[in-house]
Amino acid sequence: MAATILVTGATGRLGQRVVSRLLQKQAIVRVLTRRREDALKLWGDRVDIAEGNFSDPASLKEAARGTDRVFLLSPIGETLAADQKAVIDAALSAGASRIVKISGSDWTIANAARSISGAAHAEVETHLAGRGIAHTVLRPNAWMQVALEPVVAALRNGGDVPARFGHAAVSFIDADDIADVAVHALTASAPLAGPLVLTGGESLTALEIARIAARILHRPVGVAHNAASVFPPHIGAFEQKAISEFGQLIGDGFAASVTDTVDRITGRQPRSVEGYLRARLAAAAPQGDHSEGEKTWR
Ligand SMILES: NC(=O)c1ccc[n+]([C@@H]2O[C@H](COP(=O)([O-])OP(=O)(O)OC[C@H]3O[C@@H](n4cnc5c(N)ncnc54)[C@H](OP(=O)(O)O)[C@@H]3O)[C@@H](O)[C@H]2O)c1
Repeated sequence: MAATILVTGATGRLGQRVVSRLLQKQAIVRVLTRRREDALKLWGDRVDIAEGNFSDPASLKEAARGTDRVFLLSPIGETLAADQKAVIDAALSAGASRIVKISGSDWTIANAARSISGAAHAEVETHLAGRGIAHTVLRPNAWMQVALEPVVAALRNGGDVPARFGHAAVSFIDADDIADVAVHALTASAPLAGPLVLTGGESLTALEIARIAARILHRPVGVAHNAASVFPPHIGAFEQKAISEFGQLIGDGFAASVTDTVDRITGRQPRSVEGYLRARLAAAAPQGDHSEGEKTWR
């Protein structure tokens, strides 16, 4: 019988993309969620639903039972390290043979003293390395679906490109490219060695993005240097601090490096910022909302 793959964070931004790809590949998928009804709406009976919570070890044990591979993702927050370590240990007890972890961006791990989320992800990476289970750590750069949504919203309102990172360049990556790499790492016959640093194929400043936007929209587009980062109402102190630290590190140029990992693993170029903006600006704006439903950027 084919092996079951447990997907944590399945109902989220990246997790949904991973689940749909695994189903396309006829994989047997179990999703961990606190929201059974939402999972049912998304996938019906095409996935096995394990209702559970990172903070409830019994539910993790039940979710991990009989699984061979695990996609490990949890949101940024005070409990990130504890939550992910609990999933790893449950997977080990269940006899799983491989874990694919979505970690922090490479520059948050390298600058863990300046990034509480980088420090939390680094703690999980160390735990994983010490457990002796085959694993692949993916360290994606800033996601287009998060970091570029304020740009999409401003452009839709007829505005300029907000320069939240000053003059720094960033190699934004599409979450679909991250999902493609993750699914490859989960389903390849042999585990991929990591950590894999995932970026887009180009590093762009706000000014360069404004030039792209002008080309797409056929109107002059400038750069708004006074753009303040507005926190969504419901995020906690840990996440607020983490986001502020991202802004500082990105502004210092740490998110500018470009790797060829997406191309190397998937055999195709990562999506461009121009491709992303064209698609988003062609799509109708959601009513009463300025974003695709993206909650915040991390
Ligand atoms: N955005 C970026 O630029 C970026 C860059 C690098 C790394 N990352 C990493 O990506 C991750 C965030 O991914 P995302 O944006 O896809 O997440 P997301 O959309 O916020 O989704 C969070 C998921 O976690 C699940 N979850 C939350 N609390 C849970 C709990 N107590 N027990 C069980 N499940 C729980 C939710 O499931 P239910 O609600 O269904 O239970 C949901 O599926 C973070 O670890 C972040 O560090 C992001």
